[in-house]
Amino acid sequence: MTVHFDFASQEFFRDPPAGLKKLQAAGPVIEAKFPIVGRVWMATTQEMASRVLKDGRVFTLRKDDGTVAGLRWWMPRIFRVFANNMLNMDEPDHARLRGLVDEAFRRRAVLDMEPRVRAIADELASELFAQGSPADLVARYARMLPLSVICELLGLPLADRPKFIAWAGRATGVSSTLGFFRLAPTITAMRRYLGEHLDRVRREGGEGLIAELVRVEKEGARLTRDEMIAMVFLLLLAGHETTTHLISGSVFELARNPALRDWLEQDWSRADLAIEEFLRFVCPVQFSKPRFVRQDTELGGVRLKRGDQVMAMLAAANMDPTANVAPEKLDLTRRPNHHIAFGTGIHFCLGYQLARLEGKCALQALYTRWPELALAVKPAEIRWRSRPGLRAIVSLPVIHPAG
Ligand code: HEM
Repeated sequence: MTVHFDFASQEFFRDPPAGLKKLQAAGPVIEAKFPIVGRVWMATTQEMASRVLKDGRVFTLRKDDGTVAGLRWWMPRIFRVFANNMLNMDEPDHARLRGLVDEAFRRRAVLDMEPRVRAIADELASELFAQGSPADLVARYARMLPLSVICELLGLPLADRPKFIAWAGRATGVSSTLGFFRLAPTITAMRRYLGEHLDRVRREGGEGLIAELVRVEKEGARLTRDEMIAMVFLLLLAGHETTTHLISGSVFELARNPALRDWLEQDWSRADLAIEEFLRFVCPVQFSKPRFVRQDTELGGVRLKRGDQVMAMLAAANMDPTANVAPEKLDLTRRPNHHIAFGTGIHFCLGYQLARLEGKCALQALYTRWPELALAVKPAEIRWRSRPGLRAIVSLPVIHPAG
């Protein structure tokens, strides 16, 4: 039986635990209709979601003929270029592509970035009200921090950030078939931009991860041109569109709970644990990418057939009462915290350490500069993007009494 549920409704985004309780009551694996993906199974418990993400023999991103789960035959060819990224690959291609950039996201490399991330956060925090109060925390802070960091890491000009913001907004705003076709000119513009940038680096050299990838490309055989474009596109998009919503979602929760905000401000060594809880509770990426079922199998008491599609519903898995006690409660001291906000298995988020660092620096810089930061509107007036998949606050007007 197909479960009817609006994964993009304001009601759901406003109070996920309530909606998720209903879904979980329908079973650990439920069938639903999802925009663009179509009919799909969803794993709603942590155990089932983890199985989908970890068992690469049964659940894969591609079919034998190379078809990518979630990509449809009617999508314009240009989309296929961008789909040539590690997140759409099974082994061995996935390991080959991830291996090229793994080093840049290792713990050491990310720790080295900390002073720079802090400096960017401090600067953005001090400019929050530069154009007046209230200020939109999403546009002026939550988005600019991760975007600036990933641009520097990749070696893309900071001056082009407005372009990336516009593209990312359009690319992640699509929720219908028609929307996909409207997106084609944006995708073409992005491809042209990235193609030209890469050509310039190939000719003249450059800074950052893109320059390193160009060197790898010149050694030959490890990375095709389309894969290079797809890699940069994935890192740029995944590198900021997700963390933006972690930051804005966390600030929203702290604004609704000033006692928690004050508690955090008393001792910033509490921030590491707090960020884990925000990851679980806000869960910016609500679903994994869809996987194909490669062979008939049983999952959570349901028979899945070869060719079916299945997604791990990360938001539901993070609210699974068998994984965490009282999951509906935001508990910034929760330990251990069993969440899968970064996924699990071979596609476990490449940028998890960077995202944690950015989240921590973002909160500390913001509240150190503006300790009594508050919402300029009632919490009930805050809206989320009406699109399933990302839990993304549209705008978050904030004020500061001493601003
Ligand atoms: C709060 C922030 C973030 C969240 C919640 C998040 C979440 C996720 C999730 C759930 C996946 C797995 C998807 C699946 O298996 O279908 C993933 C993969 C990935 N993420 Fe993140 N992410 C975040 C930040 C970042 C950042 C900062 C980067 C930096 C570049 C990044 C890069 C990637 C990449 C490249 C993959 C694909 C990995 C692979 O296929 O092996 N993410 N992320």
